Amino acid sequence: MKLKQLEGLLGSLQQFSNPKVELEQYPTGPHIASRLLYMAENTFGGISGKVVADFGCGCGTLGIASALLGAEHVIGIDVDSQSLEIASKNAADLELDIDFIWCDIKNLGWRDQSVNTVVMNPPFGTRKKGSDMEFLSIALKVASGAVYSLHKTTTRDHIKRTALRDCSAKSAEVLCELRFDVPQLYKFHKKKEVDIAVDLWRFVP
Ligand SMILES: C[S@@+](CC[C@H](N)C(=O)[O-])C[C@H]1O[C@@H](n2cnc3c(N)ncnc32)[C@H](O)[C@@H]1O
Repeated sequence: MKLKQLEGLLGSLQQFSNPKVELEQYPTGPHIASRLLYMAENTFGGISGKVVADFGCGCGTLGIASALLGAEHVIGIDVDSQSLEIASKNAADLELDIDFIWCDIKNLGWRDQSVNTVVMNPPFGTRKKGSDMEFLSIALKVASGAVYSLHKTTTRDHIKRTALRDCSAKSAEVLCELRFDVPQLYKFHKKKEVDIAVDLWRFVP
């Protein structure tokens, strides 16, 4: 599938109808999501034929992109059941077979390494301090191949240190810096839309 076609399909997905700020529910836009998955597949061969888990899947964007790029099995996990309903509908509309699991990521007991790749846009930890690192440390325990993840550029040094030192990652590499559009979703947003700098990371467990 061509990049533009993938971006177009992701642009048609329904997003959070009632976003919950305490869960940092910001959708990953089609531009960033398509590039994240395209790079994971075309540069590293991390999607097609692989078992892919989408941590904090929300309305399913990253998992759906993985399925569209030929993942063998996709599992989306989120703590919010309303988002999972939308994600299931999005997948059904595109006739994709994805398993969605209602679970808090910290209660995920998987350690058998049957998941090859984890893709995620985790909470940045602005509401619940440390939630970004919680996602990362669990992803590094679950994935046998690699973790692709978005994190605020301002946290780059902290992320690298924690991944290599505390989570024993073999490598932690910023693939590119992107602008993440945050739409005016919540009352405290003063502007119609802001963008923040985010890094696209690849971690090898
Ligand atoms: C920044 S949003 C990203 C949503 C989606 N992956 C996307 O790319 O559009 C973060 C997601 O993590 C979910 N989340 C937050 N805390 C969680 C937790 N402890 N366990 C599982 N999911 C969680 C939120 O409900 C939300 O859907």
